[in-house]
Amino acid sequence: MLHLFLCCLALLLSPAKPDPDPLQDYCVADNKTPQSVFINGVPCINPNLASASHFKTSVLGKPAKTSGNPFGFNVTLTGVANLPGVNTMGLIMVRGDIASNGLIPPHSHPRASEVTICLTGSVLVGFVDTSSNPALVLSGLNSQNPGTQITSLAAFTSNPLIPDEVLRKAFQINGQDIAKIHKNLGG
Ligand SMILES: *[C@@H]1O[C@H](CO)[C@@H](O)[C@H](O)[C@H]1NC(C)=O
Repeated sequence: MLHLFLCCLALLLSPAKPDPDPLQDYCVADNKTPQSVFINGVPCINPNLASASHFKTSVLGKPAKTSGNPFGFNVTLTGVANLPGVNTMGLIMVRGDIASNGLIPPHSHPRASEVTICLTGSVLVGFVDTSSNPALVLSGLNSQNPGTQITSLAAFTSNPLIPDEVLRKAFQINGQDIAKIHKNLGG
């Protein structure tokens, strides 16, 4: 019984599971050949054709515009499209540009743990950002495809919509609040 309890506790406390170990040293993504067989990840190019350029990118060095986003943030990701050598490595890097008083809404990554370093400005993590300086953060996630669930969008702009009755109870709000939030988030 104690054993079962400890197992349950371990399951509850376990962090997001990272991607499994790759089966080869590298598997440079083949972004050109149309994919006819669906596999977990992207097929590899012939290893003899792998070159240093497949393993470098400068996308994280470029600031991204934050004005077009209602929350005032923009994320730039490394991935198989701009860094084919990262395919199957179980890792991505993310540059997060955040406007003054901007916010990355509460969200989760169901398939990854994340470490973030604030490079400039200041960021209040876990709460709405009250900083008045623009900020730049750099994150690493231990998955090639970490997934992102922005809680507010998932709850109020899903298709089909979550029934109002469920939202009223879950967030302890009324029908007018729900209509207003739907409108604000474009749901
Ligand atoms: C994010 O930044 C890129 C590069 O500046 C820009 O092309 C894109 O439109 C931006 N996205 C949003 C939602 O503002």
